[in-house]
This record gives sequence, C-alpha cells and structure tokens, in this order.
Amino acid sequence: MKINNICCIGAGYVGGPTMSIIAQKCPDIKVTVVDLNEQRIALWNDADVNNIPIYEPGLSDIVAEARGRNLFFSTNVEKAIDEAQMIFISVNTPTKTYGLGKGMAADLKYIELCARQIASIAKDNKIVVEKSTLPVRTAEAIKNILDNTGNGVQFQILSNPEFLAEGTAVTDLLNPDRVLIGGDNTPEGAEAINALVEVYANWVPEKQILTTNLWSSELSKLTANAFLAQRVSSINAMSELCEKTGADVSEVARAIGMDSRIGSKFLKASVGFGGSCFQKDILNLVYIAKSYGLNEVADYWEQVIIMNDHQKRRFASSIVTTLYNTVSDKKIAFLGWAFKKDTNDTRESAAIYVADYLLNEQAKISVFDPQVKENKVLNDLNYLESRSSDLNQKGITVVEDPYEACKGAHAIAILTEWDEFKEYDWQKIYDNMQKPAFVFDGRNILDAKKMAGYGFIFQSVGSSN
Ligand code: UDX
Ligand code: ADP
Repeated sequence: MKINNICCIGAGYVGGPTMSIIAQKCPDIKVTVVDLNEQRIALWNDADVNNIPIYEPGLSDIVAEARGRNLFFSTNVEKAIDEAQMIFISVNTPTKTYGLGKGMAADLKYIELCARQIASIAKDNKIVVEKSTLPVRTAEAIKNILDNTGNGVQFQILSNPEFLAEGTAVTDLLNPDRVLIGGDNTPEGAEAINALVEVYANWVPEKQILTTNLWSSELSKLTANAFLAQRVSSINAMSELCEKTGADVSEVARAIGMDSRIGSKFLKASVGFGGSCFQKDILNLVYIAKSYGLNEVADYWEQVIIMNDHQKRRFASSIVTTLYNTVSDKKIAFLGWAFKKDTNDTRESAAIYVADYLLNEQAKISVFDPQVKENKVLNDLNYLESRSSDLNQKGITVVEDPYEACKGAHAIAILTEWDEFKEYDWQKIYDNMQKPAFVFDGRNILDAKKMAGYGFIFQSVGSSN
C-alpha cells in the first residue's frame, strides 16, 4: 500500500514539527495537519512564517519550504480525515485532574474523541497511528472504539512513539536514533507497518526503523522517558550531597560520564526536570504498575518524581534562607520560564513551582524569557490554583528586557539555560541591583569565579563554590 495522503490530528509540539518534516522529505505525500484550535491553525498559516505557534530552531524554514506545496494546516478535521489513508493522532494527553487516577493516569478523553470522530467519518479503510504518549494498551481501546462505532470499514492501528526532544525537534526528526513502529501481528498489521516504514524510509536508513508489537512499542516510549528522567533525578540527588561535602557535581558527572557503560548525556544537575513528558509518563508508569498490584515497581519509579519535586523545592527554599529568611516584598528576577532552552513550551517547567513557592513567601517576581509571553506565565501559575489570579498578577510581572527584569532586584534566579544569558553584561546587571546582590544559577551556566569577581554572591546547583 503506497501512502499519498496523510492527516494529523493535533497541531502541537509533536504534530506540527513531525508533519513538517514528513512533508519536506516526502513531496509526493499530501500532509494535512488539523486542530480544533482556530487561533493555532491561523498562526501556522500566518503569511510571516516566523509567527508559527511553536518555537523550534530551524522549523520555520521547513514550514516555508513545504507549506502550500504538500503541507497544509486546517480546522476542517472532517475533510482531512475523510481524504487521508493514514491518520496520525497527535493530541494532548495530560495527567487527569479529576476522578479515578487523578494526578496520575493520563486523561484519554481527547484521544477517545478523535477515535470516535475518525469512526464516524471514515468511508474507506484507514491506518490510524498513535503518536501521542499513551499508556500501554491504549491502541486496543482505540481499536475497540473504531471497530464498534465505525461504518464497517477496516482500521489498522499502529503505535509510532515520538522520541523528539523539544528545542532539538528538527535535528531529532531529521536524524533519529531510531524510529519505532508497533502493529498487529497479522498480515494486515504487517502491511500497515510496511506502509509507515516506507514513509520514513524516504530519509531514515531502514536499519534504524524498528518494528515490534503494539504493546512493546507503547511501553518503550514510557520506558525511555522514565530512564532519562531517572538519570536527571539521580544526578540531582548527588548534587545535594556534593553541596554538603565540598564535591562538585559537574566534576562527578564528568568522571562518571566517561565510563562508557554510563555515558555522558543527561547528567546535568539542575533545578529539576520539566516538560510535558517526563512527569506524565512516569506517573503513567506508576499508575499502570499499581493497577497490576506491582507496588514495589510503582514505588521505585515514583521516587524519581519525589526527588524532582524535592529539587525544585530545595532551590526555592535556599533562595529564601540565603536572603536572610525573608523575601517578603523583595524583587526576585527570573531569567527563563520555559522548561528548557530553545522552546516556548512551559509545561511542568521548574520555574512555575519555584515561582509558586516564592509567591507564598510574598516575593515580587519579575520574569524575562526570550520566547515566553506574559499570558503564558500567568496561565501557568493560575493553573496551580494556589491563589487568586488577581494575586498572581500582583506578585509577578513579565518584561521584555532582561536588564529591566534584574533592575533593583535583590536576587536573580536562573531557571532556563538559554545561551544568551551567558552573554549578558553582568557587571551592568550587578551595578543596578540591591546589595548584596545574589545569583542562584539553577542551570549551572555561569562561571562562579567570574560572578564573584563582579561582586555577586553566587550559588549554583551541586557545588559549594
Ligand atoms: C523528552 C525526551 O527526551 C524525548 O525523547 C521525548 O520524546 C519527550 O520527552 P523533552 O521533554 O522535550 O523530551 O526534553 P528533554 O531534553 O528530555 O529534557 C527534559 C527535562 O530534563 C528538561 O527540563 C531539561 O532541562 C531537564 N534535564 C535534561 C536536566 O535537568 N538535566 C539533563 O542533563 C538533561
Ligand atoms: P503535544 O506536545 O503532545 O503535541 P499540544 O498540546 O502541543 O501537545 O498539542 C495537541 C493539540 O491537539 C492541541 O493544539 C489541541 O488543540 C489539539 N486537539 C486536541 N483534541 C483535538 C481533537 N479532537 N481534534 C483536533 N485537535 C485536537
């Protein structure tokens, strides 16, 4: 089966970049990305390609090349489903905020809605590809809905987890370590798997395209994220011990990273991991393990989250204790709000939790992030429901200039590792602050000696400087 028409439901951080690359690499395939969110689609279609709603280095050039040729963004979900041979489901699967599994299980209502919509519209056989991060055996649920509510047509369900990391989405998609495709162990399943293999084979060497059964594929995604998050929590656990003992966590990381069995990546101590995947996927894993009565397995993975929560709290409380046990009415400047550099995504960003802690201590926070706008910062805080939105608005201001954010501040907290922060005129920043002037580097991007040279009292993660 040769694919020449693809539809993707969900024009977010996963669907948008993934489909842009497929369209760029497969000019013979018409790719339509649909979303219910009209504003988001309007931005994807904006005449100025720099206004696309997702910030990823290199993405706007790819959209400029393919958009209007074989890449289309639309709100007409029904038409796109009807015309496509292959439909990617790339909608959000946040952690449930209500009912059974609250705070842990993935909320599958958007997925279910998609499945029902596909079933009601499809008039010919379709391949449905789950791209969102999903708990194991979701494919089965999607299949049940499709088979029981459809118009008698055949559906093949594939799992094709996304391993791209935000901020490097374009290079990750162009040069993936591997592409994973799970499907049914039947002749029809194999045919569907092959159809998707052929799409990727346009630019990914075939030996890097792995095929498995559905459940292995689904569980591989959760496992990869759990292992990565565990590395961050492990090094963060060591960072606290380093601060107490006089060791330096970056030296420890370098020493263990050169052990080829351990490897050097994902050993940067930080204020804690964020993002839409790590916490959600581990909570999913914990929930699944519990539901099978595997309490030790559940507790083991939950500890990764507990450590991460501790790291965020520890960073915030150290600001308060260092500032003579009070930050009430003191201006604290935040450099960075995104959960990592090179993205405008703020989901689960450590900055949100550190801000919440400091607002409880009555600090006045001034935020600068190169890609995050005021309404997002306020939405993130309001989502926590810790206080009224009025109080959030009073406690936090978002500015467009880093020097203004730091002006008159008692302390600066670095929450995201944006490269530009290293290039600032730190002497000028120091001169315009209250004294003593503190910097809390939650990402270990600044040089401790240089910062002390400007006059700052400087603290980083995982060393006593
Ligand atoms: C992750 C996975 O890497 C990706 O494969 C999956 O598809 C989605 O989830 P992402 O959330 O985009 O990607 O970012 P990632 O680079 O994994 O970073 C996650 C968090 O860990 C960030 O907050 C980052 O700052 C933090 N981190 C990462 C550290 O604190 N230290 C490190 O050494 C690495
Ligand atoms: P991700 O990081 O997984 O891509 P996002 O939240 O960035 O998550 O994107 C998911 C997108 O899916 C959102 O833009 C949302 O509007 C869209 N979406 C959710 N449900 C549906 C649906 N039933 N039909 C079309 N789009 C949907």
